[in-house]
Amino acid sequence: MTKTNVKVIPATGKLGILLPGMGAVATTFIAGVEAIKRGLAEPVGSLTQMGQLRLGKRNENRSSLIKDFISIASLESLCFGGWDIFEDNVYEAASKAKVLEQNLLNQLKEPLSKIKPMSAVFDKNYITLIDGKNKKTGKTKKDLAEQLREDIRRFKKENNCDRLVMIWCASTEVYTENAPCHETLSTFEAALLANDPMISPSQIYAYAALMERVPYANGSPNRSVEVPALRDLARELRVPICGSDYKTGQTLMKTILAPGLKSRLLGLAGWYSTNILGNRDGEVLVDPGSFKSKEVSKLSVLDQILEPEAYPSLYGNVHHQVQINYYPPRGDNKEGWDNIDIFGWLGYPMQIKVNFLCRDSILAAPLVLDLALFMDLAQRSDLYGIQEWLSFYFKSPLAAPGLKPEHDLQVQLLKLHNTLRFMGGEELINHLGLTYYGIVEE
Ligand SMILES: NC(=O)c1ccc[n+]([C@@H]2O[C@H](COP(=O)([O-])OP(=O)(O)OC[C@H]3O[C@@H](n4cnc5c(N)ncnc54)[C@H](O)[C@@H]3O)[C@@H](O)[C@H]2O)c1
Repeated sequence: MTKTNVKVIPATGKLGILLPGMGAVATTFIAGVEAIKRGLAEPVGSLTQMGQLRLGKRNENRSSLIKDFISIASLESLCFGGWDIFEDNVYEAASKAKVLEQNLLNQLKEPLSKIKPMSAVFDKNYITLIDGKNKKTGKTKKDLAEQLREDIRRFKKENNCDRLVMIWCASTEVYTENAPCHETLSTFEAALLANDPMISPSQIYAYAALMERVPYANGSPNRSVEVPALRDLARELRVPICGSDYKTGQTLMKTILAPGLKSRLLGLAGWYSTNILGNRDGEVLVDPGSFKSKEVSKLSVLDQILEPEAYPSLYGNVHHQVQINYYPPRGDNKEGWDNIDIFGWLGYPMQIKVNFLCRDSILAAPLVLDLALFMDLAQRSDLYGIQEWLSFYFKSPLAAPGLKPEHDLQVQLLKLHNTLRFMGGEELINHLGLTYYGIVEE
């Protein structure tokens, strides 16, 4: 069992977390960190803060909090910045998002009011249903990218940051396919200069981040760092990237349940998923183009978990449907229903119903924290390009070209844990377990 010796540069000094999009998820994340720092709440849902890692053999009884095992930036060392098309500071935006109680936000008013969004790179063709005034102008998309790079450098200097990460928390852009301009860095840069309509704002942010050697994670389903040109740029400049689309409510449940059904070889006839959602995210998803991005991301999960080509009689004819309905009274408190038609021994049908009354941003906020801290860890460990070990956090995990992404939550966690052991120079754990019975020697 491999032991390794990766050199991890310690997390000294300040880590700046840059967030394109300072809406419900971003403000719930920032306010949450400030509340936790003040002892007002617990970091529930965060692996970096609460997760334990088993070390060595089971009979050694060794384990450690992840944050004690490996050098991870402390909450005290974090500072926050970002961009939005609306000028509201984080206190105002969080109050409008109505995720957290006003009483809690009022206790955090001082630090939250200080964080004001920088002007955004925005394009109405990519997000059609909202618009705001806080936007950059420039002759070309290249100019806009240069302005973002300047923002990044200024933020780092003004806040005395040692390192930065960028986590996309802005609205879902309309669905696009890869275009020739996305193929190589030179076609991408030429397209920036030529104002090619196929270059989206999120790609401009990702490009700016990578050029400044800032790790970039994509929390939404739109195609940003996923294009070959930016993937290659990340490798060339040795910058970590990951995505796409936070795995929270309904899809989280899907990636817990579907692997379980498959493990028992229970068949699946259909999976019908519907949601009602009333936040700004839901408003943006009314646009069929933005919904298409979400739908593709949500639908891909089942196919890749169930492998219908390997199990045609169990999963070869699954009717999978996903709907999101914008319903303002619910705000951020989404309700998801799943009807799952399964079949067992001799084909006898059964049903499972899941009714998840969740809170979207409450589920997403700890993911933003973990991604920021783990992406910083990756950079300090010289792990660059796609960070497959962070698939755990995403509905559509990025994987090397030609490689099927891993969707099973428990396998993803195993991979994440082993990557931490790998970075920390501990033995990797393969769960064989035969050494305990004297069948295999140590
Ligand atoms: N909450 C979840 O559980 C969850 C799960 C998966 C993915 N996501 C994704 O996370 C993202 C954020 O979700 P949210 O609920 O915070 O949405 P939100 O609408 O509350 O916030 C998004 C913010 O992005 C801003 N914005 C839009 N385009 C921008 C641009 N080009 N530059 C800068 N700012 C821009 C909007 O003005 C808005 O304030 C969405 O893409 C959503 O699909 C959320």
